[in-house]
Amino acid sequence: MNAVMELLLNRKSVRVYEKREIGSAVKDEILAAAMRAPTAGGMMLYSIIEVKDQAAKDRLVETCDHQPFLAQAPLVLLFLADYQRWHDYFVASGVERLCEQEGVPMRKPEEGDLFLACCDALIAAQTAVIAAESLGIGSCYIGDIMENYEIHKELFDLPQYVFPICLLCFGYPTEQQQARALTPRFPREFIVFEGQYKRLTEDEFEAMYRERHAQLFRDREEIDGARNIGQLMYVRKFNADFSREMNRSVRAMVQAWTS
Ligand SMILES: Cc1cc2nc3c(=O)[nH]c(=O)nc-3n(C[C@H](O)[C@H](O)[C@H](O)COP(=O)(O)O)c2cc1C
Repeated sequence: MNAVMELLLNRKSVRVYEKREIGSAVKDEILAAAMRAPTAGGMMLYSIIEVKDQAAKDRLVETCDHQPFLAQAPLVLLFLADYQRWHDYFVASGVERLCEQEGVPMRKPEEGDLFLACCDALIAAQTAVIAAESLGIGSCYIGDIMENYEIHKELFDLPQYVFPICLLCFGYPTEQQQARALTPRFPREFIVFEGQYKRLTEDEFEAMYRERHAQLFRDREEIDGARNIGQLMYVRKFNADFSREMNRSVRAMVQAWTS
């Protein structure tokens, strides 16, 4: 197996870090790799903020669903889906006048543009993850940054066409983290299809979760009132308070973006 495949197949999220700074040369390498990621139309529809201020990190611990490990990460990068820069550039380039001459209104960023900018930001983020991994640095996404849009907007001075799509924590993994087992993935047959989408049957769901169900429900009939993994994931993830807050927050952001 080549070294890149080895790295990809052994990556895991790291949430406990050594008390060791990430030097600026190493940080530069991670950022350079992120900025070489594919980008729609070559437009780089994202921005990256390094969150350095400890008070800001401490605040994020709370606004991102109480995740204290965030405050201990030596490097925290916020990835923003960003159409503001291009909108401002269009205005600075006289696009409003051009549209006036043509007798058409100037188009503002819409939902499709937002999704494209999110794709760009996430692809840059994942490239940073892999670059860091190759340098011996572990990382973990914080998806909860999509919550509390209004607070994050104020904290980072975000304009209308900028949305924080993911936060990444980086740090050198502790020995215990290095030794930790990989988390499982579903068998490929349930995830990768040929030609057409395939909806799974009840039997296939049963097969998909058989091992995990046996492990989790080995010595008990229910957990938090749930009798199987479907119920458990619904209660703990999909219908949890943080998911409800994320949906409220994203709705508010899309409204602000399209207003
Ligand atoms: C979009 C996204 C959001 C995530 N958000 C969080 C998070 O808020 N907190 C956290 O501890 N892990 C978060 N993770 C990490 C996942 O929990 C982790 O990738 C998953 O459990 C699989 O484990 P592995 O990365 O070690 O293979 C997130 C991952 C992704 C891709």
